[in-house]
Amino acid sequence: MFSVKTMDKGNFITFEGIDGSGKTSLIKAIAHELVAQGLDVLTTQEPGGTQLGMRLREVFLRVQSEEEISPLAEALLFAADRAQHVECLIKPALKAGKIIISDRFTDSTLAYQGAGRNLPLKLLEQLINIASGGLTPDLTILLDLPVQTAILRKQNQGIQVNRMDTEKAEFYERVRKAYLELAARNPERFRIVSADKPFDEVKKETLNFIWDFLGSQKGYYSISKNKPEISL
Ligand code: TYD
Repeated sequence: MFSVKTMDKGNFITFEGIDGSGKTSLIKAIAHELVAQGLDVLTTQEPGGTQLGMRLREVFLRVQSEEEISPLAEALLFAADRAQHVECLIKPALKAGKIIISDRFTDSTLAYQGAGRNLPLKLLEQLINIASGGLTPDLTILLDLPVQTAILRKQNQGIQVNRMDTEKAEFYERVRKAYLELAARNPERFRIVSADKPFDEVKKETLNFIWDFLGSQKGYYSISKNKPEISL
């Protein structure tokens, strides 16, 4: 259904995984390596890749809110965030030939609102299609790890708790399973990296996938031939 390849010259890479999988630090480290090789990289995130998105992010991640946000309202808020993100940031950056790395995209909606909140997949696919205009990532790195490990990591980091963090383990088990199923159904796009190991190993494995992908793209031939040594 979402078969529109990224138009224009750039490349669109997304990172997915349950909360606590370590996407954010990994993206920082990966972007650093790509920039060091002279590539034009833009890192971004959902929710909150734009100014409007930052305001929406505050709404749905706030722990205390006067009333519960219904699953459908939540899905629509993520869709609004995405529509703005795609139109105002991702498409122009693709046109400019950048490598865009997004911390979450459409697969988060299928995993969290679909498997997590039990909204019908057909409805979510329609919403995703409207919000993203059919834009599909060229490559998706799925950081996979056991739910209990992710929960322990989050607790040890002692970072500010958001509304999603108060979800129970079963919720994240469903989300993790959905991600693995999405990866199995889209093997050409997904690469699964086990996040349950030292950071440097996770980084190395992820970089290998990214260099292989970039090497297969038109215009990145030289990179595939001279895959840079990865400094850890
Ligand atoms: P965030 O603090 O950015 O967590 P993380 O660093 O793990 O990405 O919070 C984003 C939360 O929003 C996260 O729990 C996943 C959720 N989310 C959805 O439920 N659906 C979506 O479509 C997106 C983009 C995010």
